[in-house]
Amino acid sequence: MKNVFITGGAGYIGSHCVVSLVKNGYNPVILDNFSNSRQTVLKKLKTITNKKIISYKVDLRDKSKLKSIFKKHKCYCVIHCAGFKAVSESIRETIPYFDNNIGSALSLLECMEENNVFKIIFSSSCTVYNENQSLPWKETIKIGNTKNPYATSKYIIERMLMDLAKYNKNWSIRIARYFNAIGNHSSGLIKEETNGVPNFLVPYIVKVAKKELPYLRVFGKNYRTKDGTCIRDFIHVMDLADGHIALLKKINQKKGLKIYNFGTGKGTSVLEVIRAFEKQTGVPISFRFSKKRKGDAAVSYCSAKKALKELKWETKYNLNQAMMDVKKII
Ligand SMILES: NC(=O)c1ccc[n+]([C@@H]2O[C@H](COP(=O)([O-])OP(=O)(O)OC[C@H]3O[C@@H](n4cnc5c(N)ncnc54)[C@H](O)[C@@H]3O)[C@@H](O)[C@H]2O)c1
Repeated sequence: MKNVFITGGAGYIGSHCVVSLVKNGYNPVILDNFSNSRQTVLKKLKTITNKKIISYKVDLRDKSKLKSIFKKHKCYCVIHCAGFKAVSESIRETIPYFDNNIGSALSLLECMEENNVFKIIFSSSCTVYNENQSLPWKETIKIGNTKNPYATSKYIIERMLMDLAKYNKNWSIRIARYFNAIGNHSSGLIKEETNGVPNFLVPYIVKVAKKELPYLRVFGKNYRTKDGTCIRDFIHVMDLADGHIALLKKINQKKGLKIYNFGTGKGTSVLEVIRAFEKQTGVPISFRFSKKRKGDAAVSYCSAKKALKELKWETKYNLNQAMMDVKKII
């Protein structure tokens, strides 16, 4: 059974990838410092997968600890999900974002190289794309000119990976540019965890539904979109997780670097998500409009054709199905 190291494996997307990895016969090894996740997720993963998942509490910037883990387990491939991810927080905490995201990637790549592990799948983001380009965004459109430090950190890591693949032919690097993950495993046991007021739409809606917050703040009502609110490509997290399996199955076939959008190819507005949630759960969500947030793009959705063509992977869940799964966590 192949060991797949999954950094950030206790987090939202990472934990769902762990479920898919086990289901598809891989042996996941979680590396996480639990800065944005809880150790209790490990027990939940055991319940879902019926398997005790190997896990290490480690900050990826701690090279000596990281090296000892690479010495202990043979690693087939690394899925690198770990990192800070909130756009608005990155504007307030720019240096910690660079330190954590870029520092972790560098330290990880160094350890991998030292241990002759040359396969990596990197969790990138649609925020690397230049905003004013024709939609849907294909992998070939321009990147850079980023709108916030979070996006810059992803862009810089992508550029590092591009150079690495160019100058060292041992590497097989896959960049997965995620669009907006939503939903949760159908068990309702694992989900996107947040402390305080969430930075992400669905966790925010959930807190309002559970009456932990009085109302939802919708940032911006006069974007040039069909209903004035932002448009995003919302992808069910289990579809996203399965995308990694599709990448893993083919990563041995070709060295070098390949980039894939991981999205549905469909744009959905913030108000449409609220309505879908209300329809599936029967719980009304009160919301108020707030000022636009700095660093938010108006519209983003992808062309997912390359992943379909080359990986034979496409999304299976729609927005309503995602909301039916969200119902299990309220
Ligand atoms: N959630 C989305 O919609 C989305 C969209 C695009 C890209 N991404 C990217 O996908 C990745 C996973 O996102 P997520 O939503 O699961 O986030 P998350 O915060 O739930 O998970 C990230 C995990 O990484 C861990 N971590 C952070 N810094 C670490 C470090 N230095 N060492 C070890 N562990 C560390 C955290 O404790 C957490 O468990 C992130 O890199 C994020 O930028 C997410």
